[in-house]
Amino acid sequence: MIKRPVQALLLAAAMLAAADRPAIPWENRLRIGQALYRENCSVCHDIDRPQSKKSGPSFYHLFQRAQMPIARIKPGRDYIKLRVKFGGALMPTFRTWLTDRDIDILIDYMASK
Ligand code: HEC
Repeated sequence: MIKRPVQALLLAAAMLAAADRPAIPWENRLRIGQALYRENCSVCHDIDRPQSKKSGPSFYHLFQRAQMPIARIKPGRDYIKLRVKFGGALMPTFRTWLTDRDIDILIDYMASK
């Protein structure tokens, strides 16, 4: 039995989080992210090479860079999530198409490249 209440609380929180969001093994998560990327983003954004002729900027090694290619801010999940949800001048919006969870998985994949 757990004697310390803090541990019990932490365990309960972990169980709740797990119930709310079933853990996907990391490799599968990246594979799902890759599929989401190919389906929704790769037509406009390369991710396997730095130079690109596509309409959007390449995201090659994005999270190792100092700046986002256009916004010139530090690459971060929140900014990418907003851009995916709401699009841009030329980029479509995905908020009615991808869930928050899809976008999180997508960003995990982008961060792994
Ligand atoms: C139809 C083409 C198109 C698709 C599809 C598309 N984008 Fe874009 N994206 C663009 C263009 C063009 C820009 C730059 C101009 C603008 O903001 O509209 C851009 C900008 C961005 C930016 C901002 C870059 C910066 O440096 O500020 C992010 C992040 C982004 N796209 C992520 C994604 C992701 C992730 C997907 C897939 C869910 C995606 N885009 C799908 C065309 C596209």
